[in-house]
Amino acid sequence: MTNVTRNEKSSKIKAPIVDALKKAYENPSYQFHIPGHTKGCGVLPDFKKLIGAKALSVDTTDEFDGLGTLHPATGPIKEAQELAAKAFGAKKTFFLLNGSTAGNLALAMGLTKKGQKIITNRNCHRSILTGMIISGAEPLWLIPKRFGDWGIWGNVTPESVEEMLDKNPDAGMVWITNPTYEGVVSDIKSISEICKNHNVPLIVDEAHACLWNFNSHLPTSALKLGADAVVHSLHKTGGSMSQSSMLHIAENSMIDVDAVEKSLKLLHTTSPSLILLASLDSARANLESPRGRKQLERAVQNAKYLRREIDKLTHIHDLKPDFGYKTDITKVFIKDDRLSGKRLEFILEKDFNIEVESASDAGLLILSNIGNTRKDMEYLVKCLQQIDKSDYNDISYLENKKYMPMLTPIIKMTLREAFYSHKEVIPKEHAVGRISAEVIAECPPGISVLLPGELITEEHIPYLIDYDTIEVIK
Ligand SMILES: Cc1ncc(COP(=O)(O)O)c(C=O)c1O
Repeated sequence: MTNVTRNEKSSKIKAPIVDALKKAYENPSYQFHIPGHTKGCGVLPDFKKLIGAKALSVDTTDEFDGLGTLHPATGPIKEAQELAAKAFGAKKTFFLLNGSTAGNLALAMGLTKKGQKIITNRNCHRSILTGMIISGAEPLWLIPKRFGDWGIWGNVTPESVEEMLDKNPDAGMVWITNPTYEGVVSDIKSISEICKNHNVPLIVDEAHACLWNFNSHLPTSALKLGADAVVHSLHKTGGSMSQSSMLHIAENSMIDVDAVEKSLKLLHTTSPSLILLASLDSARANLESPRGRKQLERAVQNAKYLRREIDKLTHIHDLKPDFGYKTDITKVFIKDDRLSGKRLEFILEKDFNIEVESASDAGLLILSNIGNTRKDMEYLVKCLQQIDKSDYNDISYLENKKYMPMLTPIIKMTLREAFYSHKEVIPKEHAVGRISAEVIAECPPGISVLLPGELITEEHIPYLIDYDTIEVIK
């Protein structure tokens, strides 16, 4: 249970979509429109029992009951987007219903062109690459630092961005993921200054950082550091429902906002879920409220407590800020120097009923969330103390597969050319030496092992344990 007082008046903060939906619920009409389940009367009773009659009765799409429309934004939806822009420090905010994936796709479709070079980090999310497959733009890979001991990618250095821009004066854009999935933060301020000096826009994929503008212990959002556009997965850590995200355009952005908006309209459903839109509106209102701020401060303090306790252990360690990079304190990446990350995840799940965000080769990721209590954290600490004292062994079948690709790609064809080439499916054993025709990027974290147009080498095989066959260029 939460420590935050229940009778705090979060109602002072405006949430226009939530209010409009409440009004529609309290003034029901005779409904002869989509969705056909008509306020839950046409669904399986077990499903209704599971999710609740009220949730179904507010499951509607835009256009009805004065709820406004998403494209173009009108009514309460427009007002909610404007409130979000203010809260996150943007000039304009778009609500997204297919996650930050939709934002990245729209940015690529709207802002990049066939053959144009886009500088981006190799460990970017696959949605950025999908966007470039659609537009025909070609990535120029920045290879971030590798944190070998931790089995993860590290930060992107400003020097590497500058070098790439100097070598490629025709590059059209820089697109950086910050922070990494594991919370490693790059120096966006310096990167943005470099981009400005070269007169190219900077997009920052902040899918994992929507909380940063709401607590002074967290890093600064790229919206304040000179980026032109930023995506935030509110559903990941901000408290909204799955699939709901935001795309922000910065105050002094140099990008073509109309082109991005047109692409969003093409990519989005024509039946946006009001429940998801209301959840974005309410997540923003909550984060701005005293209640939400306390929840976030508690998440920060819980993370500090967890890290302090881990420091007392013998075998288990946490990734800390180091020379040249910072971390988001709420993302606690840990490893046990006797066990693989997957084995540690397995132990926590099977022996202690704990589910963590993800595990990779060396370690695993724990999120200290706005919804976690101190009791949750104390239980986790107790379990880690127990594991640290026990003599758990690694299990070899978990060791056969590798999870976090840290390979430098060998590019044989452009993404788009390969994606639209003639292909064939072959047994994995025959794949070395062939050119991949598919995106192989398991989620989480959706970082690519192989992309269309890349040479398949022996090094890829440990990442492909779950594949019997693979699609290659014919
Ligand atoms: C860095 C990054 N960008 C974008 C995305 C896509 O976000 P969404 O799941 O909201 O579509 C993810 C998802 O994991 C991600 O890790």
